Amino acid sequence: MTTATPSPALDTATVLLEAQQLAPQVIDWRRALHQKPEVAFQEHETARFIRQILEQIGGLEISRPTETSVMARLRSGHAGPVIAVRADIDALPIQEENDVAYRSQSEGAMHACGHDGHTSIVLGLVTLLARHRDQLRGEVRFLFQHAEELSPGGAEEMVRLGVMDGVDQVIGLHLWSGMPVGRIGLIAGPAMAAPDTFSCTITGKGGHAAMPHDTIDPIAIGAQVVSALQHVVSRLVDPLDPVVVSVTQFIAGTTHNVVPESAYLAGTVRTFDPALRTTVPAMLERIIHGVTSAFGATYAFHYEPGYRPVINDPALTARLTSVVMRTFGADTMIDMRPTMGGEDFSAYQQRAPGVFAFIGAGNVEAGIDFPHHHPRFQIDERALDIGLRYLTAATLDLLGTA
Ligand code: NI
Repeated sequence: MTTATPSPALDTATVLLEAQQLAPQVIDWRRALHQKPEVAFQEHETARFIRQILEQIGGLEISRPTETSVMARLRSGHAGPVIAVRADIDALPIQEENDVAYRSQSEGAMHACGHDGHTSIVLGLVTLLARHRDQLRGEVRFLFQHAEELSPGGAEEMVRLGVMDGVDQVIGLHLWSGMPVGRIGLIAGPAMAAPDTFSCTITGKGGHAAMPHDTIDPIAIGAQVVSALQHVVSRLVDPLDPVVVSVTQFIAGTTHNVVPESAYLAGTVRTFDPALRTTVPAMLERIIHGVTSAFGATYAFHYEPGYRPVINDPALTARLTSVVMRTFGADTMIDMRPTMGGEDFSAYQQRAPGVFAFIGAGNVEAGIDFPHHHPRFQIDERALDIGLRYLTAATLDLLGTA
């Protein structure tokens, strides 16, 4: 309900102090989630855990957009903008190799990307903002999203189900082990790439390896295809436009004296520019067609678009950069370059201006520097407090209460 009564002033510094006091609780939540990882589209216990905490907090409208996602709306009762905050909640099919008390208890599953941290940080944010509901303006919508790690992803599905309806701005974050704890990276414009995939089956003619002239060798032809595909980046695309073409699978053959009938190639294409993105599949296919036909083989080519690129709204990025400067000091900001990794946060950005932030979580001295998706991935848990304070300051600023 919108009322004419202006909300009493809310002192951001006070809430940030409360955020710091909440840090041990956020760490507890993160460890509890870390022990019970669930992979994409199977986050049943995780969603139940989140829902239970949201119910304890109270004052929220809780719903389940999909079977394993949770949404909570905090309506202040005063006029104002609608700000969405997103946390991804899924884990990866990896066997954890860390020897910590709260290590994964689920065989073959691990929070190896920090989504346990994202979920806990946003639970912390709900706790803080719900306490001050009467002093807020507008609405804050918390999106606990399933399946970030598995295309087609959960974000697209949630957007389709209306979670972004009426949202004015959307923010999210990623803990980043490649960045020292204490630093924050905000990138205006393209920040993360579109992670597309492709595959190609080359069919030749199998036969005896001692009589290659009677065969059409898909391995020799496939090797030429792999080499020729390097020309997409080095010769076909403007060097000032970032693009990655990586062949990551080449499967063929059964033994040493048989030329196989076919070979299977697959890989990924990463781009930032939507226009360039649409031209790359034809480049790949032209090369595959040319090389295979030159040697008498045939091919079946398949291209699968992945998430859209994460493109941060420049004006909102500038605003949040000043929030970081004000909250943490200028030294916290790191001059971060875009990454060719992908993220389905981009789905929300189709519906409202959004910014995806990187929160440093690495600590080389403590051995916390394994990459994301590694069985020994870890975070420096001090990053949870920084992430919470960042989101708190950012949300309050965007609501216009600061
Ligand atoms: Ni991730």
